[in-house]
Amino acid sequence: MKAFQFNEYGGPEVLFEADIQEPQAGPGQIRIAVRAAGVNPSDWKRRAGQYRDFEALSFPSGVGVEASGLVDEVGLGVSNVSIGDAVFGFGTGTVAQFAVLTHWALKPDDLPFEAAAGLPVIVETALRSLDEIGVTRSETLLVSGAAGGIGSAVLQIARHRGISVIGTASPGKHGYLRDLGAVPVAYGPGLAERVRPLAPGGVDAALDLAGSGIIPELIGIVGSPSRVLSVADFTAPQFGARFSSGPPKHPERVLAEAAQLYSEGGFRLHLEQVFPFERTAEAHARSAAGHVTGKLVIAVA
Ligand SMILES: NC(=O)c1ccc[n+]([C@@H]2O[C@H](COP(=O)([O-])OP(=O)(O)OC[C@H]3O[C@@H](n4cnc5c(N)ncnc54)[C@H](OP(=O)(O)O)[C@@H]3O)[C@@H](O)[C@H]2O)c1
Repeated sequence: MKAFQFNEYGGPEVLFEADIQEPQAGPGQIRIAVRAAGVNPSDWKRRAGQYRDFEALSFPSGVGVEASGLVDEVGLGVSNVSIGDAVFGFGTGTVAQFAVLTHWALKPDDLPFEAAAGLPVIVETALRSLDEIGVTRSETLLVSGAAGGIGSAVLQIARHRGISVIGTASPGKHGYLRDLGAVPVAYGPGLAERVRPLAPGGVDAALDLAGSGIIPELIGIVGSPSRVLSVADFTAPQFGARFSSGPPKHPERVLAEAAQLYSEGGFRLHLEQVFPFERTAEAHARSAAGHVTGKLVIAVA
């Protein structure tokens, strides 16, 4: 089968299209014929060696941690899917014609394969962040970096839960944030002054999804570090704020919730671009440039 791999850490140019043996589904796993794979910042950070101190890779290494497709092989002990079922979920080496999934959910019929492939990481991270920060109905949440993949999920889930959201994005994306139910504000110096009139009752909690070095400013806006959480800035705990990271604690539950949110009409995924398989390196470069709106996806078949 064809798969994207890399043999050394580096830029997008280290990626190459390999012809390799299909992977096998182990116990508790399934293999899918991949229709689409999501692109995440973790893909190019891992490829660039940014995780090498805590996650050693063996080369050649595959690319991609989420996908959608049709079940093609069912591992020992798996009884909730059959060959041919359309599913989406978490896996390894998903930018390939076949990939093993470790956690999955049935894909709703009206959810396109491309959008389904982009849901696992962002919905898991959004649900985990909202739960860990403990933000509840009628509270006001400030989201830094609201127009990207995780931001798009946070805004829609928050709207579903009755949470008021103020989101930061570059000015051209303010209409996008409004469509997702948030009040937009520009990021950059003077954020606190711009947020104040938008939240007369104050901001109850803040999420940093951009890792742009604004944890102290967010703490100043919220008034306490205990309700400031970052998924992108490892230094957050140095200021008394929280840092949240995977692996997913309840992957199956999260995937089922993503499917349900979509089916109930409470969730839509804007795909900025669907790249053909051969242009995987370009998709990595676009993600690394740091200004994605919604999600990038690679169409495999
Ligand atoms: N810890 C975890 O569990 C976990 C899990 C998944 C992802 N992550 C991390 O979370 C981060 C976000 O992931 P993602 O998938 O949402 O990324 P993404 O889709 O690439 O979106 C990044 C967003 O950041 C915005 N942005 C860029 N510079 C900014 C700034 N200075 N201030 C505010 N916003 C800015 C961009 O919008 P504009 O065009 O408006 O600038 C863009 O929409 C990444 O660093 C990723 O590695 C962490």
